[in-house]
Amino acid sequence: MGIKYDEGKQTFTLDTFNTTYQMQVDRYGFLLHLYYGKTVKGSVDYLLTYLDRGFSGNPYDAGKDRTYSMDVLPQEFPCHGTGDYRGTAFAMQEESGAYACDFRYKRHEVRKGKYGLPGLPAVYAEEKEADTLEIILEDNVTRIQAHLLYGVLPGHDIITRSVRIENAGEQKVSLLKVQSACIDFTNGDFDLITFYGRHAMERNYQREPLAHGSFVIGSRRGTSSHQYSPMMILAERAASEDAGGCLGLSFVYSGGFKAEAELDQYGQTRLLMGLSDERFCYPLDPGGTFTAPEVMMTYSSEGLSRLSHNLHRCMRANLCRGKYKEAVRPVLLNSWEAAYFDFDGETIYRLARQAAEAGIDMIVMDDGWFGKRDDDYSGLGDWKVNEQKLGMTLGRLIERVNALGLKFGIWMEPEMVSEDSELYRQHPDWVLKIPGRNPVRARYQLVLDFSRKEVVDAMFSQICSVLDEGNIEYMKWDMNRSICDVYSASGENEGKVLYDYMLGLYDILERLCKKYPDMLMEGCSGGGGRFDAGMLYYTPQIWCSDNTDAIDRLRIQYGTSFGYPISAVGSHVSAVPNHQTGRTVPMRARAVTAMAGSFGYELDMNGLSEEEKEEIRVQIRTYKADAALIRQGLYYRLTNPFEDELCAWEFVSDDGEEALLFAVRQNNHGNMTVSYVRLRGLCPEGVYEDMETKKQYFGSALMEAGLVLAPKIEEYESYRVHLRRREGNGEDGRYFSEKDGEASR
Ligand code: GLA
Repeated sequence: MGIKYDEGKQTFTLDTFNTTYQMQVDRYGFLLHLYYGKTVKGSVDYLLTYLDRGFSGNPYDAGKDRTYSMDVLPQEFPCHGTGDYRGTAFAMQEESGAYACDFRYKRHEVRKGKYGLPGLPAVYAEEKEADTLEIILEDNVTRIQAHLLYGVLPGHDIITRSVRIENAGEQKVSLLKVQSACIDFTNGDFDLITFYGRHAMERNYQREPLAHGSFVIGSRRGTSSHQYSPMMILAERAASEDAGGCLGLSFVYSGGFKAEAELDQYGQTRLLMGLSDERFCYPLDPGGTFTAPEVMMTYSSEGLSRLSHNLHRCMRANLCRGKYKEAVRPVLLNSWEAAYFDFDGETIYRLARQAAEAGIDMIVMDDGWFGKRDDDYSGLGDWKVNEQKLGMTLGRLIERVNALGLKFGIWMEPEMVSEDSELYRQHPDWVLKIPGRNPVRARYQLVLDFSRKEVVDAMFSQICSVLDEGNIEYMKWDMNRSICDVYSASGENEGKVLYDYMLGLYDILERLCKKYPDMLMEGCSGGGGRFDAGMLYYTPQIWCSDNTDAIDRLRIQYGTSFGYPISAVGSHVSAVPNHQTGRTVPMRARAVTAMAGSFGYELDMNGLSEEEKEEIRVQIRTYKADAALIRQGLYYRLTNPFEDELCAWEFVSDDGEEALLFAVRQNNHGNMTVSYVRLRGLCPEGVYEDMETKKQYFGSALMEAGLVLAPKIEEYESYRVHLRRREGNGEDGRYFSEKDGEASR
C-alpha cells in the first residue's frame, strides 16, 4: 500500500485499497502521467504511444525524433512553454517578459504521514493512515521549482494533490497560473458531472457527454460561489450510482477557482483544477514560495455512490475538526426567518422558550443584534452588541436562554462593512476599492480587505469581545456578497490580493477554532455560496441554501450530496407559505427533507396550532434517535429528483444492520401510479423489519424487487421507513426465530 518507486523504470505508483495512480519520469526528465483508476499491477507505461504528429512540436532534446511531443503525451504538471497546446497547469512570466517554463524531474522524497499546507486548509491524517510523495521539478533556466505534493490515504481511496512553487533562482518571476491537479486520460468516453446554480438554488446536477473542446467551470467572485461548486466528476459514459468508473475532484479552497475538462484532438481527456487564473499574478522573488490549495481526488470503479462515500468519509474524519467533527450537532432554532431584523431580547427569549418546549437544543440569534442594524443598509463592521435594541446585555440574554436548558448561538458577517458604520467612517481604506472609482455595492455593503493583517486582527478582536460576553456555543460565519473592485490600499499587486484575502480569512478562522475549540461554527454565504471543502476544515457544517422550500431543497441537497457529507448540510424546517417560493408543503415533508442534514428550525412557533407543535416535538425526538445514522451512515441517492417525481434517499449503517429510507413526492396527479423504490447497501441474506409496520423483508428483496410506496391523495406526500436487521437468515422458513422479538442490536 502507499507509495512505490521503481528505480529501474523511474515509475511512481500510488496505491489505495481499490485504486492505482501511476506516473513516470521519462527519458528526457518529463514527468508523464500513466494511469488513475481501479487497482492494476505492474507498470502501464506501454500505454504511451509515439507517432509522428503534424503540427505537434518536439522538445529540442528529442533531436530528430518527430514522434516525441508534449502536445500529445499525458503529463502530471504540464506547463506553458513546452509545446503542449492543451490547457496547462502552470504558466509564468520571466523578468524579460517571456512566458516560458520547462519543468523536468530533479528528485523526490517519500514521507510517512500526510503533508500539511501553511495557512491553507488541507486533509490531515495520522502517520499510519497516510503517506506523502513530493516530486521536485525544475526549470533549469530560471530555477523555478514545482514541488508536487501527493497525499495518499489508502483506507479512504483518496489521493490529494497540491503544489508548492519555489524560486531557487536569481530573478523575480510572476506566476500567472498554478493549478493544483492535472489528470490526463489517453482514452475513454466520458460524461462530465458538474453542479451549477444561483443564490437560493445552488448545486443543480448537470451531466453531459464530454465533447471536443474545453468545458470550464469556475468562479471569478472571490468565493467558491453559488454558481458552480468547486468540484467535478468525470464518469464513464455508462457509469451509474452503483456501477462504472468515475473520478471525483474537490477543491479544498473557498475562493475563486477554475476547473477544466478538455477533450483533445486525439480523443484524450485532460482535467485541471486549481485557482482561478484570471487576473492572477503572483510575484515570486528569489527565495520566495507560493503554495497552491489542495485538491482531493477519489476514483470509484463501483459508481457514483461509492465515489460520494469516499469523499464523505474522508471529509468527516480527515478534514472537519474540533468537538463537532463527528458528533451529533445540536438541533437549532434560527431567528432569521422567524423575525428577520425585527426583534429585541424578549423576542429571542420567547423563541428560545418555544424551542425549549419543543425539545430543541439551541437558539441562534441571527442578523440584527449589533451596531445600528434594523435593516441591511447599515451596521456591518460594528460588532458591538446593541443593548438598547436588545433591551438587555448579551450576557443576560444568554444566561436566561441557558436557564431554559438551551445553548446560545450568534450570527456574524466579519468580512463585510456597511458605509454607514463606525468602522467605515474610521477606516475608509480598509475596504477593497479602486482609487478614483466608485465601488460596486451589493446588499449595500462593501468587502473588508482581508489581505491586510491589521484588518484581520481588528476583526478578530471585535469578534472575541462579543464571544467573551457569555456562553456562546455556536457562531454562524456569513459572507453576503461577491467580491469586486479588487484593489488593496496596502499597495500589493492586484493579482495576489484575492489569494492573500483567503489566507487572511483562513487565518482568522483558524484563530477562532483554536481559541474556542468547543464552539460549533457554521459557514454561510447567502446560504450555500461558499459551500466547499475548504470551509469544512473550519466549519463542520454550512448553511446549504437560503432557500428553505422543501421541494427545491430536494434538488439542492441531492446535488450537494455528491461531494459533501450529510453532516455538513445545514437544513431547517421553515414556515409556510415558504418565504422564498410561496409554496405550502406539509410539515412532515418539510421535516423529512430537513432531516437529510444538520437539522433545525427557522420559524416562529407562536402561530402554530397545538397539533403542529406536537408534530414538531415528535420530529425532534425522531431526528435525535436517527441522528447518528444520518450523520455517519452510508448515504445512497435512490432516485434523481431532476428526473423522477419521487425523490428518495437512504442511510445505511456501516455494518448494514440498520437503514433509514426517506422519500418525498414532488408532484401529484390524478390516478397516480405506484412507486417502487429499490434500496441499497443491505445484506442480501439478511431479514429486515420495518419498525413501524413490523413487516419483514429479505435484504435481497428490498434491493432487487424494491419496496412499495403507495401514493396517497395528498400533496408532497413523504415517507420515512426505518428498517432493522433481525437475527437469523430466514433459512428455516421463518424470517427470524421466535425468541428474537427484539432487534438484534
Ligand atoms: C444571509 C444568510 C441568512 C441570514 C441573512 C442575514 O442571507 O444566508 O441565513 O443569516 O444573511 O442577513
